[in-house]
Amino acid sequence: MTEVVLEAFDLVKRFHDGELKVEVLKGISMQVVGGETVAILGASGSGKSTLLELLGGLDNPTDGKVEVCGLDLSRVNEQERGKQRNEVLGFVYQFHHLLTEFSALENVAMPLLIGGMSIPECRSRAIAALERVGLGHRARHRPGELSGGERQRTAIARALVTNPKCVLADEPTGNLDRASAVQSLDAMMVLREDSGAALVVVTHDEKIAAEMERVLVLEDGTIR
Ligand SMILES: Nc1ncnc2c1ncn2[C@@H]1O[C@H](COP(=O)(O)OP(=O)(O)OP(=O)(O)O)[C@@H](O)[C@H]1O
Ligand SMILES: [Mg+2]
Repeated sequence: MTEVVLEAFDLVKRFHDGELKVEVLKGISMQVVGGETVAILGASGSGKSTLLELLGGLDNPTDGKVEVCGLDLSRVNEQERGKQRNEVLGFVYQFHHLLTEFSALENVAMPLLIGGMSIPECRSRAIAALERVGLGHRARHRPGELSGGERQRTAIARALVTNPKCVLADEPTGNLDRASAVQSLDAMMVLREDSGAALVVVTHDEKIAAEMERVLVLEDGTIR
């Protein structure tokens, strides 16, 4: 039996813009099982990032619920939610969000340190992840000394170093040229296969979407 790692039940999200109420998501139900790859496509403003934030427990739905490995995120306290996010999920964004004062190695090791792993173990896992994405020789460099593509691959290594059950990526190659985008996608797929993580990726890039097992299209607040 394949494990359900992420499930959305009838998600509704409304934003209040002064008097105006905007219903961005109008009842989204979806399931992600262990190890599968899913692309989310949709026009700009269709609610892709909003959906991903709800799936990752970074924001609460107006209605409906999200379960991460069977756990309803809205029913646990903030500490438990943070723990789930750190241990079960990995996040990759369009902008790398690396800590500029720290080396690539330290950035990748950070979620392991936060998770309570010993420093030598954090180091060796972080180095292994960086080597896996072709950045072993860049481990000591700070983000400012890396190219855009190298920074994104570092962020990908950081998202996957904890062996999450599911990685949520919001336009991970949106800022990169074609060659760097391909390298970053390859890095994500390699680490994903190593760890058996599922991947949900929001993208405008048809080539990335074509590499995923399933494609969901968001339109008018629902999945077409
Ligand atoms: N915090 C917020 N307050 C009010 N409206 C919001 C908020 N966040 C998102 N929206 C609105 O929700 C809609 C969907 O936004 P979202 O960022 O999810 O779209 P998207 O599909 O990710 O777009 P893009 O492809 O441009 O990234 C937009 O109309 C946006 O203005
Ligand atoms: Mg978006």
